[in-house]
Amino acid sequence: MTNIQRIFLACTFSLVLAGCSDEGVAPETTTPPPPASQDTLTFSANILPIFQQRGCIGCHGGSGGLFVGSVTQLLQGGQHGAAIIPGNGSGSNLIRKLSANPPFGVRMPQGGPYLSDSTINVIKTWIDQGAKP
Ligand code: HEC
Repeated sequence: MTNIQRIFLACTFSLVLAGCSDEGVAPETTTPPPPASQDTLTFSANILPIFQQRGCIGCHGGSGGLFVGSVTQLLQGGQHGAAIIPGNGSGSNLIRKLSANPPFGVRMPQGGPYLSDSTINVIKTWIDQGAKP
């Protein structure tokens, strides 16, 4: 190998290394700042449409037991008490019944298909924010 070849190889190698380390750093420097605090979710705008689309109203809309048509009805709850505890999404029966391994009965909506984690999270956030109508 001639000296010229040696220098050429050394340069190529260091360019590759430099390229790799640049890439390793880039994701951190381009991470966007955390989003501004979320607008408050409301039952009528954000939650009721989910219940309507996912068939909850059909089974919980007026034939006894839990009604899920309004915040007042969710607070009245069903056989196991209030379905929501404003400010405590993860402790609310509604969230526990929508999640895998509910504490009683079966996962909702009964028979599935179940809500995605992100949809359950929207409902949880709404309760955490105080369950506004
Ligand atoms: C096919 C009918 C059916 C559908 C659809 C359905 N449910 Fe239910 N739900 C039931 C039955 C029956 C029970 C009682 C047995 C049990 O707890 O598993 C129940 C119980 C519940 C309870 C517990 C009430 C209590 O205090 O005992 C909650 C909360 C609930 N459902 C929420 C929902 C939500 C939210 C949806 C829509 C995503 C939904 N359900 C869809 C039939 C249904």
